[in-house]
Amino acid sequence: MILVAGSSNLDFVVRAERIPCPGETVLGQGFRTFPGGKGANQAVASARAGGATTHFLTAMGVDNFAPTIEASLRDAGVVVHVVRSDSEPTGCAFICVSHSGENAITVAPGANSQLLPDHLPALAGFSYLLLQLEIPMATVTAYARAARQQGVTVVLNAAPAQALPPELIDNVDILVVNEGELAVVAGHPGTVADCLRHVTVPTVVVTLGARGACVRTPDEVFVQPAFPVQVMDTTAAGDTFCGVLVAALGRGDTLRRALRSASAAGAMACEKQGAQASIPQASDVGKFLAHAAEHSANSIQMLRSYCGIH
Ligand code: RIB
Repeated sequence: MILVAGSSNLDFVVRAERIPCPGETVLGQGFRTFPGGKGANQAVASARAGGATTHFLTAMGVDNFAPTIEASLRDAGVVVHVVRSDSEPTGCAFICVSHSGENAITVAPGANSQLLPDHLPALAGFSYLLLQLEIPMATVTAYARAARQQGVTVVLNAAPAQALPPELIDNVDILVVNEGELAVVAGHPGTVADCLRHVTVPTVVVTLGARGACVRTPDEVFVQPAFPVQVMDTTAAGDTFCGVLVAALGRGDTLRRALRSASAAGAMACEKQGAQASIPQASDVGKFLAHAAEHSANSIQMLRSYCGIH
């Protein structure tokens, strides 16, 4: 079984021609709400990817937002463990999505800040724990420590970007970061390869948006070019990548094969609007991959050069 622990948010989404600059107002075109939150999105992605059962530990308030998110999780087949806060509302995210599909997100954590070290369930039967950083850092660190002590593989998506305490770094087996998050975690500027030299987690997966992804394990460094798609909304593309990656590893796929599935699913999530609403089913990812062109040696070499891998 896979345990995802983290945030649940209701996403308030406005599409606009472009994301406003500081101090600027732009007129949007259409407003919708979607179930979101990095933790909840990753749990949905893991469940839709199939394989081992996905459990999700989260905190929500006593309000009208929580049932919408819980329904989305349960519809995806996630086993949900909710810590109910009667003092904080369910988390919310305010998202502007531009016509090019980019987003700017502000999160009001609310009840997510009430997920505490004591809330971790017994870990017997779990093989992977997937964490992000929209719950308190002390909680993330305590969960990673407990999982490591019990032989559960710990995967951390260090998003949103924050410097990590050494104790957390020491208890993570696989770190998933985008380029900005990598620079913050590494505390060092430079190419992807430069930054990776300053991160001690054994396996690091760096997502590179429309370029693809780069992986460094104790034995090798390799890249996965992106799958081209028509981008509508990039929200939850990274979450989809993380959830599918862990689900694939949980069912015994190699890291290379898991990375290919995660990259395809992450790309597909960009083709639709919304967070959990855009996460594909395993059967659709399979069809997508069956029709995807092989990446050329040239595209692989260009990506290696971009990363500074020689
Ligand atoms: O990664 C996307 C998610 O970030 C959104 O669903 C939003 O809720 C924020 O947590």
